[in-house]
Amino acid sequence: MEGSSQKSVLRIQGGRRLEGAVAVKGSKNASLAVLSGVLACSEPVFLRGLPNVSDIRIKLGLMVQLGAKVEFFDEGVSIDCSELRNADIEPDLARKIRTSFYMLGPLMARLGNAKLPQPGGCPIGTRPVDFHIKGLTALGAKVDLRHGIYHAKADKLQGCEIYLDFPSAGATQHIMATAVLAEGHTVLQNAAIEPEVITLANFLNRMGAKVEGAGSTTITIEGVPRLKGGEFPIPADRLQAGTYLIAAAATGGSVRVEGVLPEFQSPVVSKLKEMGASVDQGGDWIQVHAGEYHAATTVKTMPYPGFPTDMQQPMAALLTTANGVSIVEETIYENRTQHVPELRRMGAIIHQDGRTCVITGVARLDGAVVTAPDLRGGAALVIAGLMARKETIVKGVEWIDRGYEDFETTLNSLGAEIERIPAEEWEAAS
Ligand code: EPU
Repeated sequence: MEGSSQKSVLRIQGGRRLEGAVAVKGSKNASLAVLSGVLACSEPVFLRGLPNVSDIRIKLGLMVQLGAKVEFFDEGVSIDCSELRNADIEPDLARKIRTSFYMLGPLMARLGNAKLPQPGGCPIGTRPVDFHIKGLTALGAKVDLRHGIYHAKADKLQGCEIYLDFPSAGATQHIMATAVLAEGHTVLQNAAIEPEVITLANFLNRMGAKVEGAGSTTITIEGVPRLKGGEFPIPADRLQAGTYLIAAAATGGSVRVEGVLPEFQSPVVSKLKEMGASVDQGGDWIQVHAGEYHAATTVKTMPYPGFPTDMQQPMAALLTTANGVSIVEETIYENRTQHVPELRRMGAIIHQDGRTCVITGVARLDGAVVTAPDLRGGAALVIAGLMARKETIVKGVEWIDRGYEDFETTLNSLGAEIERIPAEEWEAAS
C-alpha cells in the first residue's frame, strides 16, 4: 500500500457536469475501527477492501511498531497481531490520527498494560478522550497521562455497566474492542449506533467475540479469553458515497454510486430531494439527478442517523448557489467551519455566528486559490471548485488524501477536469 508524501495542489476547471457511475471504495472510518479490533485478535486477520488512504497507512505503521506483522496482497492485507509489544510511539506520528488512541484498550487487554501518546486528527474541535478513559477505568484499568503519554494498566479487566454521556462513535468502538477480552458481561448504554459500530461488532463476532445489540443504543458484550483470526470484508464508505452524491447535485449532473446501502444515505438524500434533485435507488446503489435549480434548505448535524457532521461541509458548498437562504448548524464539533472563509474567497455569501452559518445563495461561485482546512472541508472546496467559473486551486490536498482514495481520478472519470500538481511546481509557476 503506497502513497505519495509529496505536497500537491489540485487544479480544477469548473463548470463540468458530473455524469456516470462510481464504485465506492472501502470505508476509512470502518477500517480504522476494525484495525483497533484486529489488535485484540491473537491470530492473523485478512482484511479485504481496506482503502489506500493516508490515515490507514499511518495506523498500519503504528500497529507494526506495536509488533503487528503486516503483508499486502492484491486481494487484501494480512495482519498478524499474535505477538504484540509496547513501543515508544513517536508522539508526532500518533498525533496524525485520532484513532491511534483507540488502540490503548485492546493493547492493554492483550498485554496487561499499554502506552500511547495523546491523539490528534483533523483540527475540527477539541476532541477530548474523557469518555474513552471513563470506559476503560470502569472495566478495571488504571489510566494516567504522563508527559503527553497515556499509560493504561489492568491486572484483570472485568465486565461492567458503562453509560456514555454522549453517543461517541470512537468511545463506543474503543470500549467494545476492549470489553470483548474482559471477564464477564459488559453493558454499554447510550452507545453510538453508527454503521461503523455495527461493522466493528460484525468483525469482532467473526473472530469469536460475543457482541450483541450493535446498531442499537444498548450493546452487550460477553467477554471471551481470546479472539481468533479470519477474513473480513470492509464495507463501502458511506461518506465518500455522500460526497459524490453532493458533487453530482452541485454540478447539475447525474451520478450513480454503487456498492452502498441506500439506508445509510438517507439524511443526505432527503436534503438533496428537498433541494429539488430526483433520486433513484436499488439494493446497493443510489442515483442522483440534479434538478433544474436547487432550493435553499436547513441542515443540522446530529449523531447517526441524523445528518452526518462529515457531510456538513460538502453540503455547505452545494448550498452556496442554492435559490434562497440556507441555514447550516454544526452541533458535533466546535470548529468544523474553517471552510467558510475559503468559500467566501470564491464569492459565497455566508454569515457565520458560532457554529451556525447562514448562506445566501449566489448565481455562481468564482474560481480562486483556497486551502483545505481538514478532510471534509477539503472535499467541500473541491466541490466548490467543480461548481465555480474558471479555475480553482485547492491547496492542502494532504488533508483530502487522508480519507478519499483516488479522489480526483474518480471525479475525472465522471467528467470533472482536475489535475494534481506538485505544490512546488505550482508555486514556482504562480
Ligand atoms: N467526545 C468527547 N469525549 C470523548 C469522545 C468524544 O467529548 O471522549 C466528543 C467529541 O469531541 C465530539 C463528539 O463527542 O464533539 C463526537 O465524537 P465521536 O467520538 O463520536 O467522534 P470520533 O470517534 O472522534 C468519528 C469519525 C469522525 C466523525 C465522528 C462523528 C473516525 C476515525 N472518525 O470521530 O470522522 O466525524 O465519528 O461521526 O471514525 C472524518 O472522517 O472526517 C471524521 C472526522
